[in-house]
Amino acid sequence: MIKVGIIGASGYTGGELIRFLLKHPDAEVVTATSRKYDGEPIYKVHPHLRDSELKFENLEPGELDADLVFTATPHGVSMKIVPELIDNNIRVIDLSGDYRFDNLELYEKWYGFRHSNPLEAVYGLPEINRDQIKGADLVANPGCYPTGAILACLPMVKEKIVDNIVVDSKSGVSGAGVNPTETTHYPNCSDSVSPYAVTTHRHGPEIQEKLSKFGPSKVSFTPHLVPVIRGIMSTVHGFITEDVIPEYVQEIYNEFYEGEPFVKVLDKGEVPRLSSVRGSNNCHIGCFEIDENGRLVVASSIDNLVKGASGQAVHNMNLMFGLPEKEGIDLIGLHP
Ligand SMILES: NC(=O)c1ccc[n+]([C@@H]2O[C@H](COP(=O)([O-])OP(=O)(O)OC[C@H]3O[C@@H](n4cnc5c(N)ncnc54)[C@H](OP(=O)(O)O)[C@@H]3O)[C@@H](O)[C@H]2O)c1
Repeated sequence: MIKVGIIGASGYTGGELIRFLLKHPDAEVVTATSRKYDGEPIYKVHPHLRDSELKFENLEPGELDADLVFTATPHGVSMKIVPELIDNNIRVIDLSGDYRFDNLELYEKWYGFRHSNPLEAVYGLPEINRDQIKGADLVANPGCYPTGAILACLPMVKEKIVDNIVVDSKSGVSGAGVNPTETTHYPNCSDSVSPYAVTTHRHGPEIQEKLSKFGPSKVSFTPHLVPVIRGIMSTVHGFITEDVIPEYVQEIYNEFYEGEPFVKVLDKGEVPRLSSVRGSNNCHIGCFEIDENGRLVVASSIDNLVKGASGQAVHNMNLMFGLPEKEGIDLIGLHP
């Protein structure tokens, strides 16, 4: 049994990690930390986890006794916690942005401060780094937008059939975490849709850095907040450089994702929906249409808290510990 610790267990991704791990046959959560709820049963914060006897503890990283720790903490916080865990021979999956960039300067430019503790990490997108994840001590779990966007773009970038890509993404409000803000206050986000960080969102350079390893395409990214709780829809517009037809594009995607347990390439004429992936670790990819201006449209849907965060993190844990990839996260979506 893998002994698992979760730092930041009172947050949204922490709650999701516990939800999956409670039913995982080969892992047990031994520690769930929270500074605010020290001593409280976890169901006081996560009311759906009533069956668990776990209690929150306010522990320092050096006090954790575990084989693996998930750091479900904000960026800037993870970098202060992860090195001590690694020094204590604990493998780590970090859900923040702190270890996702290969290029440290890029991280510091987009996050706006110096990285105090850089370490080598494997970018935890199993569809591109499966073998490296298996041997990693530190896995940087991808951002929620980058997960959906990279999966939607990868085959078209790798085949070099596009040069410019525009990623237009829409996220549910849980992407912003458990603490309420003016933007996520119900009357401000309900019944409305708005773009934010229009050309400056930090997930843009993360998407670009990872896709650049596969081809030379330039990627532009704009996120939107939509009044749903979970889910990210990314509509990707790729401007084609070759005379390709939709059937060929669809074939490229079918081949690229063949055998992937969590990526489902939809049939011709089908479109991805948020509702079909909600609660599951699946990414649905569809559309594959090309208009008269040479614009190829591919769209992907994921649940930001599952494939975009905690489900993908458990997938990474399964890879790191040589377990069946779907263990604990073999979930069906919640449509409607
Ligand atoms: N939400 C998403 O869809 C999503 C998707 C992908 C990645 N992520 C990333 O995953 C991480 C967690 O996201 P989240 O949405 O779960 O955030 P969240 O709901 O805000 O939860 C973060 C938790 O971290 C704990 N925390 C904050 N500062 C801390 C500190 N200095 N030391 C120890 N614990 C601290 C807090 O618990 P206490 O105050 O109780 O200690 C809090 O509950 C973030 O880096 C986020 O960017 C989130």
